[in-house]
Amino acid sequence: MRIYDNGTYPEKGEKYPFLIVDYLPQTLDQLILRTMTTAERVSYTLQLLSALAYLDHHNPPVVHRDVKPKNIFVKGRSCVLGDFGLMKFLNEDSDIDREIYRDIAGPGMPYYYRSPDLVAYAKGEAQLTTKSDVFQLGLVVAEMFTGKNPSEPPKEILDPVKLNELGPISSARGLGIHELIQQMLLFDENKRPELLISWIFGKAYSGKL
Ligand SMILES: Nc1ncnc2c1ncn2[C@@H]1O[C@H](COP(=O)(O)OP(=O)(O)OP(=O)(O)O)[C@@H](O)[C@H]1O
Ligand SMILES: [Mg+2]
Repeated sequence: MRIYDNGTYPEKGEKYPFLIVDYLPQTLDQLILRTMTTAERVSYTLQLLSALAYLDHHNPPVVHRDVKPKNIFVKGRSCVLGDFGLMKFLNEDSDIDREIYRDIAGPGMPYYYRSPDLVAYAKGEAQLTTKSDVFQLGLVVAEMFTGKNPSEPPKEILDPVKLNELGPISSARGLGIHELIQQMLLFDENKRPELLISWIFGKAYSGKL
């Protein structure tokens, strides 16, 4: 999301931070309920993968942690990933980060779009990598193509992540898309696709998406 200006403004003796950004009132959750063409769905998927690749290549790498349809802003046929309220620079101290998020935002992940990595990280059992965002985006892409988020709603936010079987994808490219989603949703983060632009667009150009 393009940021035009930022700063703080004073009011009643307090200082409040502000950002000036493009006004983008439409989010992906509104579109999922309507009909989208396969070309639009594939285009959004590629744009979002390239957003994650950008964050992964940033120095230091950034994990967004809040990838969900309400945080994906759509303008015409373009979409941007917004709401960096839960982002983490990968070189930041994890113990301090866990404490901050426990205090201000619970364990720091969206309830319906959790990754196994975020659950393990919040429990102090593992370090976070940018592959966590790949899993979250996998849930979003699955919802875009099947109409349903495959993640079983948890009773407690730190319950293990459970996935239901993916619904059918009715498209000539259905098999390739199904395979991509399954790879993005692997519990072993090392087996999920690498965030390489050449891999992402290579898949599209070779007709596998
Ligand atoms: N650039 C924008 N243009 C229009 N609406 C925006 C823009 N950025 C954010 N919003 C909207 O402002 C509201 C508040 O967003 P914010 O990210 O502060 O909190 P949130 O989305 O409620 O939190 P969370 O994403 O953690 O659940 C949301 O409804 C969001 O869609
Ligand atoms: Mg938001």
